[in-house]
Amino acid sequence: MDKFLITGPCKIKGQVSISGSKNAALPILASTLLFDKPVIIENLPQVRDIDTMLNLLKSLGSKIQYLKNKKTVKISKTTKPKHFASYSLVKTMRAGILVLGPLVAKYHKSITSLPGGCTIGARPVNYHLNALKKLGMKYEIKKGYIHASSKGKLKGANIKFSKISVGATENSIIAACLANGKTILKNCAIEPEIKDLTNFLKSAGANIKWIGKRTCQIIGVNSLNQTTYSVMGDRIETGTFCVAATLAKGDLVIKNFNPNVIQTELNLLKKVGAKIKTSKNEINIKGPKKIKNITNITTKEYPNFPTDLQAQFMVLLCKANGRSTITESIFENRFMHVAELRRLGARIIVKDNKATIEGKTEFLGAELMSSDLRASVALVLAAIVAKGQSTINRIYHLDRGYEKIENKLKKIGVKIKRLS
Ligand code: EPZ
Repeated sequence: MDKFLITGPCKIKGQVSISGSKNAALPILASTLLFDKPVIIENLPQVRDIDTMLNLLKSLGSKIQYLKNKKTVKISKTTKPKHFASYSLVKTMRAGILVLGPLVAKYHKSITSLPGGCTIGARPVNYHLNALKKLGMKYEIKKGYIHASSKGKLKGANIKFSKISVGATENSIIAACLANGKTILKNCAIEPEIKDLTNFLKSAGANIKWIGKRTCQIIGVNSLNQTTYSVMGDRIETGTFCVAATLAKGDLVIKNFNPNVIQTELNLLKKVGAKIKTSKNEINIKGPKKIKNITNITTKEYPNFPTDLQAQFMVLLCKANGRSTITESIFENRFMHVAELRRLGARIIVKDNKATIEGKTEFLGAELMSSDLRASVALVLAAIVAKGQSTINRIYHLDRGYEKIENKLKKIGVKIKRLS
């Protein structure tokens, strides 16, 4: 199993270019199951979750051709589409559940594995199933699989999500594209990745309109057209590099990302003392000499502070000049990084879903274990400013969602080595 060796403290200076968004690319790729004609998707990040989704699509009968490089794929329907999404693929990546909506919408049947929980929480899929049921899907759960079908086309419906869910919103939007009639989805997630999905589907002729802040109207069409679409930049990767620069008193130019998408995060970084200049597709961020503490950061749905940056901000606040708090309101178990950060010297107390972080920590390098994607990158950040050498084990978690992270970090001054 690969590990990283990082020798700190490192100075961060230079330029980094942001890759395509994993969490936008995954639903876009799943939605290609709706198409009869080929589609071309550009700016895919080269990360393991994308490979897993492409393998899942292949197992469902899609033909995948890489064009130019591994960032552009042409996806075509073959004559033998299948409708079985296996446990072996879905268990490694929960976004596998996103093939359920398109399979039922297009082929009126699917056997899709339940994804199961993961380290950050139980993560059930009841909102996905309830919404698809309202669109006319019938289902039974047998031996860990969702056996789903519909009598012909799905039917448009009015659906109000009882809680905001990114995945359930995506599955429902995708499924409603080929349903008969009008679907109104209320209390939708409005993460930028969802807007990227609807922009992609609209580029292929889907009739989708946002008619309120969290209300989406979809009028079903008979089929979707050929299209070429470039996936948006990764806002969590961008946020992670912004934290790195702030934490390490760095001076970083972050390219290929629209700063307007992460205003909440940039405002928080300004609050802790970072100097930030933005232009159309670029962020220049300089870390302060002294990081200020913040109380009461709470993770919440977009446009609020994202759970996917909670671990990274926690590392930053360990170095602040006073006590800070972070409340995690999206996932019930997303503090796995805390125990590992303590191994580096952090003083963090967790009570229920609230972490209290003492500032002025002098991190000392140590041997560490990754537990999930964002927890792993938080350990990398801490190791960058720790004195001495840190070893981060199980970095396959990082490879799921950060493209060539060690190359990007090396270029901006981090002493990092991958051991295979
Ligand atoms: C998406 O997960 C992202 N994954 C996650 O990114 C992200 O952390 C999360 O949204 C929140 O922003 C992808 O986009 C592939 P949810 P998703 O449905 O869709 C509960 C990363 O690090 N819930 O919005 O699974 C759920 O348990 C990852 O890149 C139900 O109870 O998130 C959670 O507590 C990790 N029933 C909350 O809702 C359901 O049917 C929000 O989950 C669905 C969700």
